[in-house]
Amino acid sequence: MRYGHFDDEQREYVIERPDTPLPWINYLGCEDHFGIISNTGGGYSFYRDARLRRLTRYRYNSTPLDTGGRCLYLRDDAAEVGATPLVWSPSWQPVRRELDQYECRHGMGYTLIRSRLQGIEADIRYFVPLGDSLEIWEVTIANRRSRPANLSLFAAVEFCLWDALDDASNFQRNLSVGEVEVVEGVIYHKSEYRERRNHFAFFACSAEVAGFDTQREAFLGPYRGWESPSGVQAGLLSNSIAHGWQPIGAQHTRLQLKPDEAKTVVFLLGYHENPPDDKFDPAGSQVLSKRSLTPIIARYRQPQEVEAAFLALRHYWDELLGKLSVTTPDPHTNRMVNIWNVYQVMTTFNLSRSASYFESGVGRGMGFRDSNQDLLGFVHLAPERARQRILDLAATQLPSGGAYHQYQPLTKLGNNDIGSGFNDDPLWLVLSLAAYIKETADWDILDEPVPYDSNPELAEPLYGHLQRSMQYTLDRLGPHGLPLIGRADWNDCLNLNSFSDTPGESFQTTTNKDGKVAESVFIAGLFVLAAQEMVGIARHRGEADAFSDAASKIEDAIWAAGWDGAWFRRAYDDSGNPIGSKECEEGQIFIEPQGVCVMAGLGVEDGRAQRALDAVADRLATVHGIVLHQPAYSRYYLHLGEISSYPPGYKENAGIFCHTNPWIMIAETRIGRGDRAYDYYLRINPSTREDLSDVHRCEPYVYAQMIAGRDAPAHGEAKNSWLTGSAAWNYVAITQWILGIRPTFEGLEVAPVMPSTWDGFKAERYFRGVRYLIQVERTGPGNEIRLEVDGHPIEGTVVTLPPVGTQEVRVIAKVGPG
Ligand code: GLC
Ligand code: GLC
Repeated sequence: MRYGHFDDEQREYVIERPDTPLPWINYLGCEDHFGIISNTGGGYSFYRDARLRRLTRYRYNSTPLDTGGRCLYLRDDAAEVGATPLVWSPSWQPVRRELDQYECRHGMGYTLIRSRLQGIEADIRYFVPLGDSLEIWEVTIANRRSRPANLSLFAAVEFCLWDALDDASNFQRNLSVGEVEVVEGVIYHKSEYRERRNHFAFFACSAEVAGFDTQREAFLGPYRGWESPSGVQAGLLSNSIAHGWQPIGAQHTRLQLKPDEAKTVVFLLGYHENPPDDKFDPAGSQVLSKRSLTPIIARYRQPQEVEAAFLALRHYWDELLGKLSVTTPDPHTNRMVNIWNVYQVMTTFNLSRSASYFESGVGRGMGFRDSNQDLLGFVHLAPERARQRILDLAATQLPSGGAYHQYQPLTKLGNNDIGSGFNDDPLWLVLSLAAYIKETADWDILDEPVPYDSNPELAEPLYGHLQRSMQYTLDRLGPHGLPLIGRADWNDCLNLNSFSDTPGESFQTTTNKDGKVAESVFIAGLFVLAAQEMVGIARHRGEADAFSDAASKIEDAIWAAGWDGAWFRRAYDDSGNPIGSKECEEGQIFIEPQGVCVMAGLGVEDGRAQRALDAVADRLATVHGIVLHQPAYSRYYLHLGEISSYPPGYKENAGIFCHTNPWIMIAETRIGRGDRAYDYYLRINPSTREDLSDVHRCEPYVYAQMIAGRDAPAHGEAKNSWLTGSAAWNYVAITQWILGIRPTFEGLEVAPVMPSTWDGFKAERYFRGVRYLIQVERTGPGNEIRLEVDGHPIEGTVVTLPPVGTQEVRVIAKVGPG
């Protein structure tokens, strides 16, 4: 069953009823200021860092689900005195009074909620304008009754005292530090501004206000919730000024509307910083200086400015989404490639794994592995930002070549609490950097001096970072000549050195073994893949390539110890026993090494790749996607760690990780099986799962990290939507391997391995400043490619760069029998 539909023309997903199986969310903001918004206005806002600069509170485990957030209330003031007034939320929550009509449209960086009750229409537009640090809620109320309407409109937010973790725990202090100012319809939240902070939040209203509240208890009334604040019920706020306790911003404005009259009120929820030496006005007082903010608020109080900012945002997305667009025979593919998958890739690039409805914003910053992979999908959208991200990531790398697993976006410093020693981490930097250079040909980046451990004294050209990334693996080889796994590899939960038997201990940072035995076949495959990129880079620099000998030794080690006869093994445990082998009782075959080893080309020539992929099809593929391993671990194994802590079928214990599925899609294209690659693609494509929304439950417009595997009672149910490497990898699999349009160091390659039923497709790709118009035509079965560039046949599948000044290149690709 469905809860909405796609509007591809508008690039929106339209939710038709408010009670979706889970809150279906969207993101506001694409630079520094972000908001998470659900289809009923839930969620929270922050500046850059969801933990350290949180503007508003959110309670993840609250009931009812998704309460709090952006609260709007309408009250019919004409109701008879004494009668219970008619009060509702035009976004349904938090009041949850049934609406006569409701629709939520999530678009690119904005959300629209429209509703109607008893002839009163509300039309709300939420977005963050480019260039400013604030969230706009533009609320238009229209009276469709035949008589005049007297209404009150209330808007409310609950402020967070900045550090979201401290806010939720340090009550002995926090209940006494809250401070606000209210001036001319603007509520300023300035907790801790008196001391070391030079930032504050504000909540402004464009209309004349009839009253406000800033103390939560005054607004809600004691022992009452957001669904029925006493101030809203009474139609009158108390102008409370918060001192300590719980500062909020609640605004009240009255609307008198003739029949068919509409009025627009703009609320602004924002963040502002003052120079540290110019915090107060007058200087020496404790009054917040509003000088630099006032013009910004004045601007967005005007509806025409709001409209202009909205158009600018739409234009920004038009540009980004125009970098690659495709027209294939399949609408699911088209809408994911052209709209939603790119959008999700950008969201993961901005937020890594920090803030979603499954990531609380306080736990995880920017993952080293995660961010490098997100970049693979993002790099063509905004290469400048990708460049900066690579430099930021590399600057947190350790002199050993290893990496902190995460860094905080606000400080850009490695996060020691999460630690390091995930031995695959550094290799992802090689992959992301190669992707960046292939896209841009910016070879100079390799000569940029970049610190280690954020220490400028330890700077070295970026190229050196790559070499240390590679050397890090070679310095850590185990008994079979395979890379030692360290804390874990891509599978964070395969903790072969953890041996944790203490409740609550972090699997990710606990190490009770010296780590000299447990090895990873996955890292071995990843090393071979990375070494191929290093060869391309060294060749261009005219240097001897330093890693292909090492890579062939590792390949030998894979064949000697990592091949199980019909598939690749996964790892060796601390006792030197194989994991992911027919010898094992549980966990006999894993998806990851089949994906990465075949992507690196292993066994492609001699049929072993095909055997491994056939084993995946036989043992791991389900209608809902490919599970991580089989059989699932039925109990906790001390020597395997977190992977076996999950009940069978969930998460790393044989869940369907949408992140790894595309590796198999790519691997299938490597052996020419386009039908199978595409079949796997469709199984987890969110749009194809829209009809199953009551099984899938998460948003049908974005990938989730995980879909419950066949061992779980809820097989097919998705979790952890939005912030997942699934976004980038699925995008890479479909665009670069199935549709086959991929940047290389030498130019743009066009080599589709597409479904046999397709006659062809069209694509438009901007690449290094040139617009490529690509037309693919099937001439018969098979994957042989013959290219014509601007009417002339060329050798091979790579279209080299045209002469400088060329703006457009036409490519025809004929696909068929050899
Ligand atoms: C999560 C993590 C990612 C990891 C994966 C498998 O998606 O963000 O880094 O590779 O889980 O454990
Ligand atoms: C947990 C999650 C895993 C994630 C890791 C990151 O182990 O299950 O998916 O990668 O945390 O810290």
